[in-house]
Amino acid sequence: MRWSPEHDERFRAAYSGKRVCITGGAGFIGAHLAEALVDLGAFVVIVDDLSAHEADADDAPDAISELLEGAPEHVRFVHASILDTHALDDAMERVRLVFHLAAISSLPESLRDPDRAFRVNDRGTFEVCSSAQVAGAKRIVYAASSSAYGDAGSGPVAESHAPSPLSPYAASKLAGEHVVSAWARSFGLPGVSLRLFNVYGPRQRVGAGDEGAVVASFLHRAKRGQAPEIFGDGSQTRDFIHVDDVVLAMLLAGAAEGELRGQAVNVGTGRAVTINDLARLAAEACGRPDLRPRRLPPREGDILHSRADTELARTLLGFEAAIPLSDGLARTLEGPRGNGLRTGARLEAPVRGAAVAHR
Ligand SMILES: NC(=O)c1ccc[n+]([C@@H]2O[C@H](COP(=O)([O-])OP(=O)(O)OC[C@H]3O[C@@H](n4cnc5c(N)ncnc54)[C@H](O)[C@@H]3O)[C@@H](O)[C@H]2O)c1
Repeated sequence: MRWSPEHDERFRAAYSGKRVCITGGAGFIGAHLAEALVDLGAFVVIVDDLSAHEADADDAPDAISELLEGAPEHVRFVHASILDTHALDDAMERVRLVFHLAAISSLPESLRDPDRAFRVNDRGTFEVCSSAQVAGAKRIVYAASSSAYGDAGSGPVAESHAPSPLSPYAASKLAGEHVVSAWARSFGLPGVSLRLFNVYGPRQRVGAGDEGAVVASFLHRAKRGQAPEIFGDGSQTRDFIHVDDVVLAMLLAGAAEGELRGQAVNVGTGRAVTINDLARLAAEACGRPDLRPRRLPPREGDILHSRADTELARTLLGFEAAIPLSDGLARTLEGPRGNGLRTGARLEAPVRGAAVAHR
Protein backbone atom coordinates (compact mmCIF):
# COMPACT_ATOMS: atom_id res chain seq x y z
CA MET A 1 0.00 0.00 0.00
CA ARG A 2 1.39 3.40 -0.98
CA TRP A 3 0.35 6.55 0.84
CA SER A 4 1.89 9.85 1.88
CA PRO A 5 4.36 10.13 4.81
CA GLU A 6 1.78 12.33 6.62
CA HIS A 7 -0.83 9.61 6.30
CA ASP A 8 1.66 7.02 7.42
CA GLU A 9 2.51 8.92 10.57
CA ARG A 10 -1.12 9.55 11.36
CA PHE A 11 -2.13 5.95 10.74
CA ARG A 12 0.68 4.54 12.86
CA ALA A 13 -0.42 6.76 15.75
CA ALA A 14 -4.03 5.63 15.28
CA TYR A 15 -3.52 1.91 14.67
CA SER A 16 -0.18 0.66 15.95
CA GLY A 17 -0.73 -1.70 18.86
CA LYS A 18 -4.54 -1.36 18.56
CA ARG A 19 -6.89 -4.31 18.40
CA VAL A 20 -9.25 -4.06 15.42
CA CYS A 21 -11.84 -6.43 14.00
CA ILE A 22 -12.55 -6.83 10.29
CA THR A 23 -15.71 -8.74 9.44
CA GLY A 24 -15.50 -10.14 5.93
CA GLY A 25 -11.72 -9.77 6.23
CA ALA A 26 -11.03 -12.69 3.90
CA GLY A 27 -12.94 -10.98 1.08
CA PHE A 28 -11.60 -8.89 -1.77
CA ILE A 29 -11.55 -5.50 0.02
CA GLY A 30 -11.22 -6.94 3.54
CA ALA A 31 -7.96 -8.76 2.82
CA HIS A 32 -6.37 -5.58 1.41
CA LEU A 33 -7.49 -3.71 4.54
CA ALA A 34 -6.14 -6.47 6.80
CA GLU A 35 -2.73 -6.31 5.09
CA ALA A 36 -2.59 -2.51 5.52
CA LEU A 37 -3.55 -2.70 9.21
CA VAL A 38 -1.00 -5.43 9.95
CA ASP A 39 1.65 -3.30 8.21
CA LEU A 40 0.67 -0.43 10.51
CA GLY A 41 1.24 -2.60 13.57
CA ALA A 42 -2.40 -3.26 14.50
CA PHE A 43 -3.63 -6.57 15.94
CA VAL A 44 -6.28 -7.72 13.50
CA VAL A 45 -9.12 -10.13 14.26
CA ILE A 46 -10.74 -11.34 11.05
CA VAL A 47 -14.23 -12.84 11.15
CA ASP A 48 -15.26 -14.54 7.93
CA ASP A 49 -17.31 -17.63 7.16
CA LEU A 50 -15.62 -17.98 3.74
CA SER A 51 -19.06 -18.40 2.17
CA ALA A 52 -18.04 -16.25 -0.80
CA HIS A 53 -15.10 -18.51 -1.60
CA GLU A 54 -14.74 -22.01 -2.97
CA ALA A 55 -17.47 -24.31 -1.65
CA ASP A 56 -14.94 -26.82 -0.38
CA ALA A 57 -12.52 -24.25 1.07
CA ASP A 58 -11.28 -25.27 4.47
CA ASP A 59 -8.45 -22.80 4.33
CA ALA A 60 -8.40 -18.99 4.26
CA PRO A 61 -7.70 -17.39 0.94
CA ASP A 62 -4.02 -17.08 0.21
CA ALA A 63 -3.65 -13.49 1.39
CA ILE A 64 -4.97 -14.36 4.85
CA SER A 65 -2.91 -17.54 5.07
CA GLU A 66 0.13 -15.45 4.27
CA LEU A 67 -0.71 -12.91 6.98
CA LEU A 68 -1.22 -15.70 9.51
CA GLU A 69 2.08 -17.22 8.57
CA GLY A 70 4.05 -13.97 8.29
CA ALA A 71 2.71 -12.15 11.34
CA PRO A 72 0.98 -14.70 13.58
CA GLU A 73 1.24 -12.42 16.59
CA HIS A 74 -0.72 -9.75 14.71
CA VAL A 75 -3.58 -11.75 13.19
CA ARG A 76 -6.34 -13.98 14.43
CA PHE A 77 -8.72 -15.65 11.99
CA VAL A 78 -12.15 -16.63 13.26
CA HIS A 79 -13.89 -18.90 10.80
CA ALA A 80 -17.48 -18.07 11.67
CA SER A 81 -20.57 -16.28 10.49
CA ILE A 82 -21.43 -12.86 11.90
CA LEU A 83 -24.78 -14.48 12.70
CA ASP A 84 -23.04 -16.80 15.17
CA THR A 85 -23.30 -14.48 18.17
CA HIS A 86 -21.03 -16.57 20.44
CA ALA A 87 -18.22 -16.54 17.93
CA LEU A 88 -18.77 -12.86 17.21
CA ASP A 89 -18.71 -11.84 20.89
CA ASP A 90 -15.54 -13.87 21.36
CA ALA A 91 -13.91 -12.20 18.35
CA MET A 92 -14.91 -8.68 19.49
CA GLU A 93 -13.41 -8.97 22.95
CA ARG A 94 -11.20 -5.94 23.72
CA VAL A 95 -11.58 -4.66 20.17
CA ARG A 96 -11.24 -0.91 19.80
CA LEU A 97 -12.42 -0.45 16.25
CA VAL A 98 -14.61 -2.50 13.90
CA PHE A 99 -14.53 -2.49 10.11
CA HIS A 100 -17.71 -4.23 9.04
CA LEU A 101 -17.39 -5.64 5.52
CA ALA A 102 -18.98 -9.09 5.80
CA ALA A 103 -21.93 -9.29 3.43
CA ILE A 104 -23.63 -11.15 0.68
CA SER A 105 -21.89 -8.85 -1.78
CA SER A 106 -23.32 -10.32 -4.94
CA LEU A 107 -26.38 -8.67 -6.43
CA PRO A 108 -27.40 -11.78 -8.45
CA GLU A 109 -27.06 -13.86 -5.27
CA SER A 110 -29.41 -11.44 -3.49
CA LEU A 111 -31.97 -11.98 -6.26
CA ARG A 112 -31.64 -15.76 -5.95
CA ASP A 113 -31.91 -15.74 -2.16
CA PRO A 114 -33.19 -12.41 -0.80
CA ASP A 115 -33.90 -13.97 2.60
CA ARG A 116 -30.23 -14.82 3.06
CA ALA A 117 -29.14 -11.38 1.81
CA PHE A 118 -31.29 -9.72 4.46
CA ARG A 119 -30.21 -12.08 7.21
CA VAL A 120 -26.52 -11.44 6.57
CA ASN A 121 -26.56 -7.80 5.43
CA ASP A 122 -29.26 -6.43 7.72
CA ARG A 123 -29.55 -8.76 10.74
CA GLY A 124 -25.81 -9.42 10.52
CA THR A 125 -25.11 -5.67 10.80
CA PHE A 126 -27.37 -5.56 13.85
CA GLU A 127 -25.35 -8.41 15.42
CA VAL A 128 -22.04 -6.70 14.61
CA CYS A 129 -23.15 -3.35 16.07
CA SER A 130 -24.59 -5.01 19.20
CA SER A 131 -21.48 -7.07 19.77
CA ALA A 132 -19.18 -4.07 19.15
CA GLN A 133 -21.16 -1.97 21.62
CA VAL A 134 -21.06 -4.63 24.33
CA ALA A 135 -17.31 -5.05 23.75
CA GLY A 136 -16.83 -1.31 24.31
CA ALA A 137 -15.57 -0.61 20.78
CA LYS A 138 -15.00 3.08 20.09
CA ARG A 139 -16.06 3.12 16.45
CA ILE A 140 -17.56 1.16 13.57
CA VAL A 141 -16.77 1.75 9.90
CA TYR A 142 -19.35 0.08 7.65
CA ALA A 143 -18.80 -0.80 3.99
CA ALA A 144 -22.07 0.51 2.57
CA SER A 145 -22.90 0.64 -1.11
CA SER A 146 -23.60 3.29 -3.74
CA SER A 147 -26.34 0.95 -4.95
CA ALA A 148 -28.45 2.72 -2.29
CA TYR A 149 -29.00 5.52 -4.83
CA GLY A 150 -30.53 3.38 -7.57
CA ASP A 151 -30.64 5.24 -10.88
CA ALA A 152 -29.71 8.78 -9.81
CA GLY A 153 -28.98 10.36 -13.19
CA SER A 154 -25.71 11.27 -14.87
CA GLY A 155 -24.50 14.03 -12.54
CA PRO A 156 -22.50 13.41 -9.38
CA VAL A 157 -24.80 12.11 -6.65
CA ALA A 158 -24.52 13.59 -3.15
CA GLU A 159 -25.40 11.85 0.11
CA SER A 160 -28.47 14.13 0.44
CA HIS A 161 -30.01 12.42 -2.62
CA ALA A 162 -32.98 10.27 -1.51
CA PRO A 163 -32.04 6.57 -1.59
CA SER A 164 -33.92 4.37 -4.02
CA PRO A 165 -32.58 0.80 -3.79
CA LEU A 166 -33.53 -1.36 -6.77
CA SER A 167 -32.45 -4.83 -5.58
CA PRO A 168 -32.50 -6.93 -2.40
CA TYR A 169 -28.74 -6.38 -2.25
CA ALA A 170 -29.13 -2.58 -2.34
CA ALA A 171 -32.04 -2.58 0.11
CA SER A 172 -30.31 -4.86 2.62
CA LYS A 173 -27.08 -2.84 2.50
CA LEU A 174 -29.08 0.37 3.01
CA ALA A 175 -30.86 -1.27 5.97
CA GLY A 176 -27.39 -1.90 7.43
CA GLU A 177 -26.66 1.84 7.22
CA HIS A 178 -29.73 2.56 9.31
CA VAL A 179 -28.55 0.10 11.96
CA VAL A 180 -25.14 1.83 12.11
CA SER A 181 -26.81 5.23 12.40
CA ALA A 182 -29.25 4.01 15.11
CA TRP A 183 -26.39 2.56 17.18
CA ALA A 184 -24.51 5.86 16.93
CA ARG A 185 -27.52 7.85 18.11
CA SER A 186 -29.09 5.45 20.61
CA PHE A 187 -26.15 3.60 22.11
CA GLY A 188 -23.20 5.95 21.72
CA LEU A 189 -21.29 3.78 19.25
CA PRO A 190 -19.75 6.29 16.81
CA GLY A 191 -19.98 5.03 13.27
CA VAL A 192 -19.88 5.91 9.61
CA SER A 193 -21.25 4.24 6.49
CA LEU A 194 -18.90 4.50 3.54
CA ARG A 195 -20.94 4.21 0.35
CA LEU A 196 -18.40 2.53 -1.87
CA PHE A 197 -18.79 3.02 -5.63
CA ASN A 198 -17.40 0.42 -8.09
CA VAL A 199 -14.33 -1.03 -6.44
CA TYR A 200 -11.70 -2.89 -8.49
CA GLY A 201 -8.17 -4.16 -7.98
CA PRO A 202 -6.01 -7.25 -7.52
CA ARG A 203 -7.66 -10.46 -6.29
CA GLN A 204 -11.18 -9.43 -7.21
CA ARG A 205 -13.07 -12.55 -8.13
CA VAL A 206 -14.11 -12.72 -11.78
CA GLY A 207 -17.85 -13.20 -11.85
CA ALA A 208 -18.36 -11.55 -8.46
CA GLY A 209 -21.72 -9.81 -8.40
CA ASP A 210 -20.57 -6.28 -7.73
CA GLU A 211 -20.19 -3.80 -10.52
CA GLY A 212 -16.45 -3.32 -10.01
CA ALA A 213 -16.07 -6.95 -11.07
CA VAL A 214 -16.56 -5.84 -14.68
CA VAL A 215 -12.93 -4.66 -14.50
CA ALA A 216 -11.81 -8.10 -13.35
CA SER A 217 -13.85 -9.69 -16.13
CA PHE A 218 -12.47 -7.43 -18.90
CA LEU A 219 -8.86 -7.91 -17.76
CA HIS A 220 -9.31 -11.66 -17.32
CA ARG A 221 -10.69 -11.99 -20.84
CA ALA A 222 -8.22 -9.61 -22.52
CA LYS A 223 -5.25 -11.48 -20.99
CA ARG A 224 -6.58 -14.60 -22.70
CA GLY A 225 -7.13 -12.82 -26.00
CA GLN A 226 -10.90 -12.84 -25.54
CA ALA A 227 -13.05 -9.82 -26.42
CA PRO A 228 -14.80 -7.97 -23.59
CA GLU A 229 -18.52 -8.70 -23.33
CA ILE A 230 -20.65 -5.58 -23.00
CA PHE A 231 -24.32 -5.55 -22.04
CA GLY A 232 -26.18 -2.96 -24.12
CA ASP A 233 -24.46 -0.19 -26.09
CA GLY A 234 -21.74 0.43 -23.46
CA SER A 235 -22.67 4.08 -22.90
CA GLN A 236 -23.49 3.33 -19.25
CA THR A 237 -21.10 5.12 -16.91
CA ARG A 238 -19.60 4.05 -13.59
CA ASP A 239 -17.27 5.54 -10.99
CA PHE A 240 -14.47 2.98 -10.67
CA ILE A 241 -12.29 3.28 -7.59
CA HIS A 242 -9.14 1.28 -6.92
CA VAL A 243 -9.13 -0.86 -3.78
CA ASP A 244 -6.03 0.94 -2.42
CA ASP A 245 -8.02 4.19 -2.45
CA VAL A 246 -10.88 2.43 -0.66
CA VAL A 247 -8.48 1.16 2.02
CA LEU A 248 -7.17 4.70 2.40
CA ALA A 249 -10.74 5.98 2.90
CA MET A 250 -11.43 3.27 5.48
CA LEU A 251 -8.24 4.04 7.43
CA LEU A 252 -9.07 7.75 7.37
CA ALA A 253 -12.59 7.00 8.62
CA GLY A 254 -11.21 4.84 11.42
CA ALA A 255 -8.80 7.60 12.46
CA ALA A 256 -11.03 10.65 11.80
CA GLU A 257 -11.29 13.20 14.57
CA GLY A 258 -14.65 14.65 13.53
CA GLU A 259 -17.85 13.41 15.11
CA LEU A 260 -19.17 10.25 13.45
CA ARG A 261 -22.89 9.94 14.05
CA GLY A 262 -23.71 7.26 11.55
CA GLN A 263 -23.49 9.52 8.47
CA ALA A 264 -23.33 8.05 4.98
CA VAL A 265 -20.27 9.22 3.04
CA ASN A 266 -19.57 8.56 -0.64
CA VAL A 267 -16.30 6.86 -1.49
CA GLY A 268 -15.69 7.27 -5.21
CA THR A 269 -13.40 9.20 -7.53
CA GLY A 270 -16.02 11.66 -8.77
CA ARG A 271 -15.14 10.65 -12.36
CA ALA A 272 -17.49 8.81 -14.70
CA VAL A 273 -16.16 6.28 -17.22
CA THR A 274 -18.23 4.60 -19.90
CA ILE A 275 -18.16 0.82 -20.12
CA ASN A 276 -16.95 1.23 -23.72
CA ASP A 277 -13.96 3.30 -22.52
CA LEU A 278 -13.24 0.80 -19.76
CA ALA A 279 -13.21 -2.03 -22.30
CA ARG A 280 -10.76 -0.12 -24.50
CA LEU A 281 -8.46 0.78 -21.58
CA ALA A 282 -8.50 -2.80 -20.28
CA ALA A 283 -7.63 -4.17 -23.72
CA GLU A 284 -4.81 -1.61 -24.08
CA ALA A 285 -3.48 -2.39 -20.60
CA CYS A 286 -3.21 -6.04 -21.68
CA GLY A 287 -1.45 -5.13 -24.93
CA ARG A 288 -4.51 -6.15 -26.99
CA PRO A 289 -5.95 -2.87 -28.38
CA ASP A 290 -7.20 -4.92 -31.35
CA LEU A 291 -9.88 -6.66 -29.25
CA ARG A 292 -13.32 -5.39 -30.21
CA PRO A 293 -16.16 -5.76 -27.70
CA ARG A 294 -18.82 -8.42 -28.11
CA ARG A 295 -22.29 -6.90 -27.64
CA LEU A 296 -24.89 -8.63 -25.53
CA PRO A 297 -28.50 -7.57 -24.94
CA PRO A 298 -28.95 -4.95 -22.19
CA ARG A 299 -29.52 -6.39 -18.72
CA GLU A 300 -32.89 -5.90 -17.09
CA GLY A 301 -32.62 -3.33 -14.28
CA ASP A 302 -29.07 -2.19 -15.17
CA ILE A 303 -28.69 1.41 -14.03
CA LEU A 304 -27.41 3.88 -16.61
CA HIS A 305 -25.13 6.14 -14.61
CA SER A 306 -23.35 6.21 -11.28
CA ARG A 307 -20.88 8.84 -10.11
CA ALA A 308 -19.97 10.09 -6.64
CA ASP A 309 -20.09 13.61 -5.34
CA THR A 310 -16.91 13.54 -3.27
CA GLU A 311 -17.26 16.75 -1.24
CA LEU A 312 -18.34 15.20 2.08
CA ALA A 313 -15.56 12.60 1.99
CA ARG A 314 -13.11 15.46 1.52
CA THR A 315 -14.45 17.67 4.30
CA LEU A 316 -15.34 15.00 6.89
CA LEU A 317 -12.56 12.47 6.31
CA GLY A 318 -9.93 14.35 4.32
CA PHE A 319 -10.26 11.68 1.63
CA GLU A 320 -9.59 12.12 -2.07
CA ALA A 321 -9.07 9.22 -4.46
CA ALA A 322 -5.58 9.38 -5.94
CA ILE A 323 -5.31 6.53 -8.44
CA PRO A 324 -6.37 7.24 -12.05
CA LEU A 325 -8.09 4.36 -13.83
CA SER A 326 -5.21 3.67 -16.25
CA ASP A 327 -2.75 3.38 -13.32
CA GLY A 328 -5.23 1.32 -11.37
CA LEU A 329 -5.60 -1.14 -14.25
CA ALA A 330 -1.80 -1.48 -14.46
CA ARG A 331 -1.62 -2.09 -10.70
CA THR A 332 -4.37 -4.67 -10.97
CA LEU A 333 -2.40 -6.51 -13.65
CA GLU A 334 0.78 -6.32 -11.55
CA GLY A 335 -1.13 -8.28 -8.95
CA PRO A 336 -1.23 -7.97 -5.21
CA ARG A 337 1.93 -7.96 -3.20
CA GLY A 338 0.81 -11.44 -2.17
CA ASN A 339 1.62 -12.86 -5.60
CA GLY A 340 4.25 -15.52 -5.34
CA LEU A 341 4.01 -15.61 -1.59
CA ARG A 342 3.73 -18.85 0.30
CA THR A 343 0.33 -20.33 0.90
CA GLY A 344 -1.12 -23.11 2.95
CA ALA A 345 -0.72 -21.74 6.48
CA ARG A 346 -3.04 -23.42 8.93
CA LEU A 347 -5.88 -21.40 10.35
CA GLU A 348 -6.42 -20.95 14.00
CA ALA A 349 -8.81 -23.59 15.29
CA PRO A 350 -12.35 -22.42 14.63
CA VAL A 351 -14.07 -20.68 17.51
CA ARG A 352 -16.86 -22.58 19.30
CA GLY A 353 -18.84 -24.36 16.66
CA ALA A 354 -17.66 -22.02 13.93
CA ALA A 355 -20.79 -22.91 12.04
CA VAL A 356 -21.06 -21.42 8.60
CA ALA A 357 -24.62 -20.30 8.91
CA HIS A 358 -26.99 -19.93 5.98
CA ARG A 359 -24.64 -21.17 3.37
N1 LIG B 1 -16.63 -4.54 -4.34
C1 LIG B 1 -17.41 -3.48 -4.55
O1 LIG B 1 -17.41 -2.91 -5.65
C2 LIG B 1 -18.30 -2.96 -3.44
C3 LIG B 1 -19.11 -1.83 -3.71
C4 LIG B 1 -19.93 -1.36 -2.70
C5 LIG B 1 -19.96 -1.97 -1.46
N2 LIG B 1 -19.19 -3.07 -1.24
C6 LIG B 1 -19.28 -3.71 0.09
O2 LIG B 1 -17.97 -3.89 0.59
C7 LIG B 1 -17.91 -5.09 1.36
C8 LIG B 1 -16.78 -5.98 0.86
O3 LIG B 1 -17.01 -6.26 -0.51
P1 LIG B 1 -16.08 -7.25 -1.34
O4 LIG B 1 -16.13 -6.81 -2.74
O5 LIG B 1 -14.77 -7.39 -0.65
O6 LIG B 1 -16.91 -8.58 -1.21
P2 LIG B 1 -16.43 -10.08 -0.89
O7 LIG B 1 -17.59 -10.95 -1.20
O8 LIG B 1 -15.13 -10.37 -1.55
O9 LIG B 1 -16.19 -10.03 0.68
C9 LIG B 1 -17.22 -10.25 1.62
C10 LIG B 1 -16.71 -11.27 2.61
O10 LIG B 1 -17.74 -11.51 3.58
C11 LIG B 1 -17.76 -12.89 3.87
N3 LIG B 1 -19.09 -13.23 4.40
C12 LIG B 1 -20.26 -13.37 3.72
N4 LIG B 1 -21.24 -13.70 4.57
C13 LIG B 1 -20.69 -13.77 5.81
C14 LIG B 1 -21.18 -14.07 7.11
N5 LIG B 1 -22.47 -14.39 7.29
N6 LIG B 1 -20.34 -14.05 8.14
C15 LIG B 1 -19.02 -13.76 7.97
N7 LIG B 1 -18.48 -13.47 6.77
C16 LIG B 1 -19.31 -13.47 5.71
C17 LIG B 1 -17.45 -13.58 2.57
O11 LIG B 1 -16.96 -14.90 2.76
C18 LIG B 1 -16.40 -12.65 1.97
O12 LIG B 1 -15.09 -13.06 2.33
C19 LIG B 1 -19.28 -5.74 1.26
O13 LIG B 1 -20.00 -5.36 2.42
C20 LIG B 1 -19.89 -5.10 0.03
O14 LIG B 1 -21.31 -5.04 0.13
C21 LIG B 1 -18.36 -3.60 -2.20
